[in-house]
Amino acid sequence: MAVPLRRKLIVSLIILLILLAMYMVALYRDVEVVRFLPEVDKTAGIAKKQLKIEKDDHLLERIKQRQSERQQRLRDYCGKHASSRNRSDQYHHPIIVNDEYRVIFCYIPKVACSQWKRVFLALDNRIDVDDVHDNKHYKFLLYDYSDEDIKVRLKSYFKFLFVREPLERLLSAYKNKFVNNQWPWTRIQSFKTKILERYKQDELSSHSSDQDLTFKKFIYYVSDVGFDRDAHWRSYGTICHPCDIEYDFIGHFEDMPEEALHILRQTRMDRAVTFPPFHTHNTTSKLLKNYAPIPKEKIAQLGKAFEEDFEMFNYDFPGPLSDLMHD
Ligand SMILES: *[C@@H]1O[C@H](CO)[C@@H](O)[C@H](O)[C@H]1NC(C)=O
Ligand SMILES: *[C@@H]1O[C@H](CO)[C@@H](O)[C@H](O)[C@H]1NC(C)=O
Repeated sequence: MAVPLRRKLIVSLIILLILLAMYMVALYRDVEVVRFLPEVDKTAGIAKKQLKIEKDDHLLERIKQRQSERQQRLRDYCGKHASSRNRSDQYHHPIIVNDEYRVIFCYIPKVACSQWKRVFLALDNRIDVDDVHDNKHYKFLLYDYSDEDIKVRLKSYFKFLFVREPLERLLSAYKNKFVNNQWPWTRIQSFKTKILERYKQDELSSHSSDQDLTFKKFIYYVSDVGFDRDAHWRSYGTICHPCDIEYDFIGHFEDMPEEALHILRQTRMDRAVTFPPFHTHNTTSKLLKNYAPIPKEKIAQLGKAFEEDFEMFNYDFPGPLSDLMHD
């Protein structure tokens, strides 16, 4: 009687050990899975819903149609202005390169650039980055390559950029920096001080808002000192050189969800990442409200300052602000 009992005990112990080993293996696997989850999380989003729409041939047709119109428009512009323009082969703006997928992306601040930066960081297995705007995280910027390597890449890679209605971007930059304070405090303060000082004795400072950095003061200031002082309001042409770099895709912010997905598919980047959640909506009334205090002469001046961007990328001026330009 004693022997079978001991044998049973040993068998039970062995089974227990096997179960324990299986459990440990499972646990280890879980840990592995968990480690890779954030990558999925941070860039997951519109994917599933959009994938379904993308199967729609009409949508693909529409994207291609719009694209050929935009390309034609840009070619026309560049042809017309070729003689008055200096060719650039110096790219001072950080243009993102991905060698694995052979992609080049010229990002423009305030045109969903954080979302796109997250995509490229995720492709590079950088999912732990807090400040996506710190260029030290990007070891893959065009100007880091040798002249020869830049040439090769510009010739053979898929190159794209996204633009947006220029006056809407200007408003978005103002809101982001001075309403939502998305700049370091000291930088905001120094900017604010400069502007408030400049317009202190001015009609721009009504009594109630002397200390406020209003959109109006912001507009007057940046158009006085020049829009090329900061990448957030520098013109698209100056940032991305669209007449020198032949972009394969010119995206519009207004069509971002479907066009972002289209690009991820075309470049096969969709195997590794999805585009973060993104919504577009009609901003006409918001623009009208914010630009209402700006005199129409000043708005016309903005149209002139960004004339190149309006023309190159097929945006109408005054477009959504037409209602403000009547007598
Ligand atoms: C083109 O280059 C010339 C000489 O380098 C310079 O004087 C001129 O201002 C430039 N033009 C533009 C539009 O940048
Ligand atoms: C946005 O709304 C305005 C009216 O507020 C309308 O006139 C305009 O056509 C709309 N734009 C788009 C792109 O739907």
